[in-house]
Amino acid sequence: MSRLSGRVAIVTGAGRGIGRAYARRLAAEGARVVIAEIQFTNAQRVAEEIAAAGGQALALHTNVADWESVRQMAEQTVARFGRIDILVNNAAIMDVKPWDQWTSEEWDAIFSVNVKGLYYCIKAVVPYMRQQGKGKIINIASAVFFHGQPYCLPYAVSKAAVIGLTRSLARELGEYNICVNAVAPGLTETERIRELFPEGADFLVPFQCFKRQEQPEDLVGTVAFLASDDSDFLTGQTICVDGGWMMH
Ligand SMILES: NC(=O)c1ccc[n+]([C@@H]2O[C@H](COP(=O)([O-])OP(=O)(O)OC[C@H]3O[C@@H](n4cnc5c(N)ncnc54)[C@H](O)[C@@H]3O)[C@@H](O)[C@H]2O)c1
Repeated sequence: MSRLSGRVAIVTGAGRGIGRAYARRLAAEGARVVIAEIQFTNAQRVAEEIAAAGGQALALHTNVADWESVRQMAEQTVARFGRIDILVNNAAIMDVKPWDQWTSEEWDAIFSVNVKGLYYCIKAVVPYMRQQGKGKIINIASAVFFHGQPYCLPYAVSKAAVIGLTRSLARELGEYNICVNAVAPGLTETERIRELFPEGADFLVPFQCFKRQEQPEDLVGTVAFLASDDSDFLTGQTICVDGGWMMH
């Protein structure tokens, strides 16, 4: 597997969960990978895992909600690996409670990371992609937007914004040969989901076509495809990878 050899990918929030799986798969396909993560120890651990498997990775302490931190992320990536070809905008925060219990601070925190953070990362990498004449931006949305999921209002609205960002930027960046697409996972078994639903989170399985709980590895092939030349004429799209829960 060397579909991505010579390419450099940044995966935000790749210190654990699905982001970790994206980073490991992109590295396995030959990309040099930057783990841009607010939990630096986790980022270092994933970079070590990739190195142990024969890949190349750089762990960076990055807060996607902070422009200066994101600017340094792009600068340090280029200083180390010389280019930026792929951005996987995966970092996000999610929580659950009834619709009328969200505070102003919680709305701001979720939007700072889940929406503005994606914009900052795109703004920081696009100048390098333009110079190179090509780029791949993959924004992680969520199938909850299509379903209209209760009990996670600011999160669901932030993921709607991710799809809006994807469509509008696909139009603005197409002239530079930069693809902007989104992936919408279904309810996927990760550390965060286990924290939110300690009693188990397989309650959507009956509504999926595939009757088992989604795993991070179920998502990586689609992201690797969107990162590769195989998707060069695909932009502005949102692909639901959710075992057939949503069909839109
Ligand atoms: N797990 C699911 O069921 C599910 C479903 C749909 C969409 N998603 C999306 O997939 C992505 C990954 O989900 P996950 O379950 O692996 O979540 P997770 O909480 O395990 O991982 C998110 C990562 O982002 C990092 N992060 C948070 N804030 C950050 C910041 N300001 N700067 C940099 N890094 C930051 C966290 O430290 C963490 O490592 C998210 O975008 C999430 O919304 C997940």
